[in-house]
Amino acid sequence: MSLGKILIVDDDANLLELIAMRLESAGYDVMAAREEDHAVAALKAGAFDLCIVDLMLSNRDGITLMEEFRAVNPEVPTIILTAHGSIENAVEAMRRGAYSYLTKPFEPRDLLLQIERALENRNLNSEIKRLKVLLHEQFDFANIIARSAKMRSVLDVVTRIAKLDSTVHIHGESGTGKELIAKAIHLASHRKDKPFVALNCAALPETLLESELFGHEKGAFTGAVKSTRGLFTQAHGGTLFLDEIGDMPLSTQSKVLRVLQERQFYPVGSEVPIEVDVRVIAATNKDLEELVKKGVFRDDLFYRIHVIPIFLPPLRDRKEDIVPLVEHFLKKCSQQMKKDVKGIVPEGLRKLMLHEWPGNVRELENTVEYSVAMTQKEIVTEEYILQGKSVSSEAGHGLAADKQSGSDDTMKPLKDARDAFERDYLVQVLSMTDGNVSQAAKLAGKYRADFYDLLKKHDLKADDFKKPKSVANSP
Ligand SMILES: Nc1ncnc2c1ncn2[C@@H]1O[C@H](COP(=O)(O)OP(=O)(O)OP(=O)(O)O)[C@@H](O)[C@H]1O
Ligand SMILES: [Mg+2]
Repeated sequence: MSLGKILIVDDDANLLELIAMRLESAGYDVMAAREEDHAVAALKAGAFDLCIVDLMLSNRDGITLMEEFRAVNPEVPTIILTAHGSIENAVEAMRRGAYSYLTKPFEPRDLLLQIERALENRNLNSEIKRLKVLLHEQFDFANIIARSAKMRSVLDVVTRIAKLDSTVHIHGESGTGKELIAKAIHLASHRKDKPFVALNCAALPETLLESELFGHEKGAFTGAVKSTRGLFTQAHGGTLFLDEIGDMPLSTQSKVLRVLQERQFYPVGSEVPIEVDVRVIAATNKDLEELVKKGVFRDDLFYRIHVIPIFLPPLRDRKEDIVPLVEHFLKKCSQQMKKDVKGIVPEGLRKLMLHEWPGNVRELENTVEYSVAMTQKEIVTEEYILQGKSVSSEAGHGLAADKQSGSDDTMKPLKDARDAFERDYLVQVLSMTDGNVSQAAKLAGKYRADFYDLLKKHDLKADDFKKPKSVANSP
């Protein structure tokens, strides 16, 4: 395998051949060019790791050529060869971005050493770049808890689609984090320094909704005493988040469709179109396809919106997220309330794990907030956790006052029900032992090996339940 691909440019044919031979025998892939134009063409055509350029070429000087190289591919380092006595030129070359220089005649060993260093440095640079990107992403997602595989794949999609301009449709039950994800997409996009504008389409009657979205001219309707800019205009260059889009009246839907198709619209009462560059993210907790079938949502708008669908699963289907979410909210709430609440007793955590969470993450957040407000101890006791609420998988059906989902589904086949229970159970023991397999296996009354088999069956990883320093630990 080649150590790297090197392009050498020198008008001295003998020297060129000599260097090429040396480098080839040292394990590099070499392309030697006597003519500058050949060299530029070669660089454009292939991926090189390094260039070596003679400063005194017959037609151009090496610095100009180096700059042409850099224009083609700025990542490729260049080593300059100079004749004895032209140090000033060499220094000038370095100033203009050469990696290093060698004065002729040079020891082949010195050249090899320089090459090695330049390549190492290049790898380091690309590693630093990669880490910076990673850091940036983590920074943007720092407030989003995603321990479950389901949520991690949501974040994965978010990372991949953030930089595109396609419309996104986020759907999921109430409180699953739709707005949070919409903001994360905005923050991870090139639009992040432009506005993120949100509108709840269910909150306004039709006429108000339209003037809110598109703005209106003075006198367009009674009460329109001055003209206003609509949200589409305010969001120009940024992102418009249309929450509860399923509740948008049909007439407004067709206007939104036109903006998505033509990138322009007319303010209410105006004949002058306004052009905008806006990325639309829509959210629903309803089944839009169902609404399309019923005829209350336009199918063409549905297809416009549903370009990138993101489904946020209900919390009861990703119980792995409960404990880290609890830690996250405990920290946040105790900071806000200036208290020093460190955790929840194991029995309290167990209740949280067993609850079905019809209100999803928001309900969990409220539950934790309540417990932090009430407690006078560092560790929240059980009494402040889900007081008076049924813990459904144990309490059975019928008692939960706020149940909308989860318990009203039809009977599952016994095997599916057992599997679901088994998975929940594993998530629980792993959550409570912070991913300590020995302890978890012991709690479950299983041998370690059998326990591992079970984890594998349910695609769970003990490591995902480990944490550096916990605030939810009992003393
Ligand atoms: N994965 C998560 N990590 C941290 N916090 C979360 C997460 N998911 C949701 N939250 C928090 O839960 C609350 C509800 O989230 P959000 O408002 O985004 O939900 P939603 O789906 O838009 O709800 P609704 O349908 O009721 O409008 C917010 O305070 C949000 O910060
Ligand atoms: Mg919302």
